[in-house]
Amino acid sequence: MRKLGRLLAAVGVAAFISFPSGAQIAPLIANVTARHAVSLNGDWQVIVDPYDTGYLDYRATPLDNNNAFFKNYKPKSKSELVEYDFDKSGQLKVPGDWNTQRESLLFYEGSVWYKRSFDYSGDANGRVFLHFGAANYIADVYLNGQKLGRHEGGFTPFDFEITDKVKQQANFVVVRVNNSRAKDQVPTTNTDWWNYGGITRPVTLLTVPKTFIQDYLMQLEKGSSRHVKGWVQLNGPQLQQKITLKIPEAKFSQTYETDSNGRAEISFDSNFSLWSPENPKLYEVEIAATADRVTENIGFRSIETRGADILLNGKPIFLRGINIHEEAPLRPGRAWSEEDARTLLTWAKELGCNFVRLAHYPHNEAMLRMADRLGILVWAEVPVYWTIQWENPETLRNAQNQLQEMMTRDRNRAALIIYSVANETPISDARNRFIRQLIAEAHSNDTTRLVSAALQSHEERHDDRVQVSIQDPLANDLDVLGNNEYIGWYVHLPADADKMDWSSAYNKPLIMSEFGGDALFGFHGDELTRWTEEYQANLYEHQIAMLKRIPFLRGSTPWILKDFRSPRRTLPGIEDYFNRKGLMTDHGDKKKAFFVLQTFYEEVQTTQSQQSSYNTGK
Ligand code: GCU
Repeated sequence: MRKLGRLLAAVGVAAFISFPSGAQIAPLIANVTARHAVSLNGDWQVIVDPYDTGYLDYRATPLDNNNAFFKNYKPKSKSELVEYDFDKSGQLKVPGDWNTQRESLLFYEGSVWYKRSFDYSGDANGRVFLHFGAANYIADVYLNGQKLGRHEGGFTPFDFEITDKVKQQANFVVVRVNNSRAKDQVPTTNTDWWNYGGITRPVTLLTVPKTFIQDYLMQLEKGSSRHVKGWVQLNGPQLQQKITLKIPEAKFSQTYETDSNGRAEISFDSNFSLWSPENPKLYEVEIAATADRVTENIGFRSIETRGADILLNGKPIFLRGINIHEEAPLRPGRAWSEEDARTLLTWAKELGCNFVRLAHYPHNEAMLRMADRLGILVWAEVPVYWTIQWENPETLRNAQNQLQEMMTRDRNRAALIIYSVANETPISDARNRFIRQLIAEAHSNDTTRLVSAALQSHEERHDDRVQVSIQDPLANDLDVLGNNEYIGWYVHLPADADKMDWSSAYNKPLIMSEFGGDALFGFHGDELTRWTEEYQANLYEHQIAMLKRIPFLRGSTPWILKDFRSPRRTLPGIEDYFNRKGLMTDHGDKKKAFFVLQTFYEEVQTTQSQQSSYNTGK
């Protein structure tokens, strides 16, 4: 059943089939914000349900009577026993994690039930979808007391068709969100980030025509600066029809025919001003079908590798990057809005970045669209993090589904150049098999982007020098090698980086996807005193000197732009449940190392513009 779903999705007739309850998750609708949409954001009634009392009876059997919270049932008489009431149970903001909205929920892991009532006055001839930007981790969704379906995975969008279920008035959507951790999940039980629970991204009520433009792809063919290849996918009864594609600014307009599956292949030449960090040029693209019309902003660029070089629009580029977790700037909790994205990416630009690694899971769509507008290249990742259950086929299906959903949502983002399918995973046959499937899926679903993973280098001492290299079988399958190393923090002292000599058996580009160390802002001392800004700055000085000596290095994303919450960081007075490897605090204060990296990136930028390539061996 699920295999069929993925097969249909892979051939473009997207149908994400899941869940034995017969309810199904609908095909992901592209570009939700450009559709006729009603936002359901705001205050939702909630019930915090640590023992899943609203879901299971005392025998742990799923409830289906009025005690089930999704029924939102009210007693009909003074004698009727009903032990829950959404409307008297307090509220939480959506979008938003629950952890930072109530002190009592900061460490909470379990179920929280959300309820939102709404009237619907949309076009009675249209089709209606309920769209979620994301909910962490499992979301069981109900409308008017009926199950719509379940979504698993905390960082990707999902939607349900409710055309035949929605009423004009007094609808109520109920969502059971559960963020309990389990070994077979993706990510699994252990992560170095906060397990924020809740409906963390916008909820939207979409109205579309009976046959609508469900999805599309428009991008330059690999290695071309002129030839666009893509497709448009319709969804509905009238699959075969004419569609028109217009790019007014490029004086382009062409009509295509969709086939019996509602798909039209797109192919044309044009003379675009190519998208790049220096020139984040977006074109308004208009796709029109008989009853539907969608406009999209797309940048046209090509990305590829040639030996150890990464080529953007055919030219070698050095990726001056930084890691970012999806935590809001200047306030606690998950980021989700355009403003959050603008602030975080503006800080990255201030650092001198043309690239960000969005760690370790798909960030919100606003972040990708802002990267398109600000000209920041993106590494996006699925949370195959540390020790996943490699042998478990359900875990693999889950990881594939998250990858699929991430790729579907962001396929038209010029900024997105690299998909990462794993972070710091222990080498084993089962792991290799698991990740190779993700690499193959990424390549087969998108021929235009690069695939990478954050691997871990291997050290060999030779007299007073250390040979460092990547010895991971997956390196053969990746387009770009990512490597996490903590020389000077978890291993060695900062100055030991001066003894490190890097080599590679692979004629491929390397991105140093993580390095760094912790510092508490305002804590000062000598360069060898841990947790001081001086220690962190010194570590960066030695790291940068080492990076400059790596001939196949084509990018770096130090760990990390700003301090972030982590349940693994308990050191009182220093960590207090924050990972302090940020170059800034969670309040935007810059630490000394911020300026060390900024200086390095200025130098790279200057050299690159003079040489039109930095460290590209030319
Ligand atoms: C790891 C990991 C990060 C973590 C970081 C750290 O490499 O990928 O998620 O936060 O190191 O230890 O600070």
